[in-house]
Amino acid sequence: MGYDGNLTPLFDLASQPGRAAPYTEFLGQDIIAVDQFDRRRLAYLFQRADEMRDLVAHAGACDLLRGYVLTCLFYEPSTRTSASFIAAMQRLGGTVIPITQGVQFSSVSKGESLPDTIRVLEQYSDVIVLRHPDVGSAQVAAEAATVPIINGGDGVGEHPTQALLDLFTIYEELGGVDGLKVAMVGDLRYGRTVHSLTRLLLQYNVSLRFVSPDTLRLPLNLMNTVIDSGINVRESDNVQDVIGDADVLYVTRIQKERFGDAAAYDEVKDAYEITPALMRQAKEKMVIMHPLPRVGEIHTSVDADPRAAYFRQVQNGMFIRMALLAAVLGKA
Ligand code: NCD
Repeated sequence: MGYDGNLTPLFDLASQPGRAAPYTEFLGQDIIAVDQFDRRRLAYLFQRADEMRDLVAHAGACDLLRGYVLTCLFYEPSTRTSASFIAAMQRLGGTVIPITQGVQFSSVSKGESLPDTIRVLEQYSDVIVLRHPDVGSAQVAAEAATVPIINGGDGVGEHPTQALLDLFTIYEELGGVDGLKVAMVGDLRYGRTVHSLTRLLLQYNVSLRFVSPDTLRLPLNLMNTVIDSGINVRESDNVQDVIGDADVLYVTRIQKERFGDAAAYDEVKDAYEITPALMRQAKEKMVIMHPLPRVGEIHTSVDADPRAAYFRQVQNGMFIRMALLAAVLGKA
């Protein structure tokens, strides 16, 4: 390891309510939903993620998780989440069993239950990342498993590691979260990243703006949670209503695979496009984020805009997942 151990702490714990959580707090834990993270735990994780950034910049990799095995079990398509976890594990010296393609050719197609698949795979591995089309599947897997299960997206439910990297990106780009106006745009009904990030943001003093076609509004139960939290919230179907004011413009893809009816998808698929002309109305200091993949919601000519943070967001995902894997395996 060429790493010299000189870390630049970004997160001033003194500014956080209470102390950062000790690393042992995560040992052996499943990561299922964002409500497992209070500001203390977030402070710990973001500090570690920042150290991972330094580690990668200085040394590329280390031996922290040598001898540990991660299984990536993905029943839904994924490029970045699976690659991000694989890269995270490998940079920490661990190895990966990637079951990210062709699950339809595996024992699952013979009728094996999710709990059985998990009980088998945990015999080989120390931690499992699961992506599955059913809401609640990560919890089902966690109940069957003795190793930590990390939810890599359960249908239209949650995508906690994406929300953690989204929040980390907001910290990194804008220096804090309290006081910000965050606008979420696109498919707020089916977009699980929106669901998780919204829940996480309720811990902060933010204003939320939800912009979607009428048929893709935030699910009612989540909207009620937002309203009950007492924060300032508005809905609209027009990006023009939020562009001049937003500190964070969080754009999402219309989730084609969640529509039963192709005609209903066609009606909304081109609802929004962020263009350089629109960005001229945005603040000078703000960020555009997107969990990716995009399918036309952000024009490629916006990519050169320094406010376009979506590729930096991808890299932050690896640092967050490195921090999370080390934490659940009890390695500081
Ligand atoms: C998201 C997902 O899978 O929910 N992708 C990702 O993990 N970065 C967003 C999406 O597919 O639109």
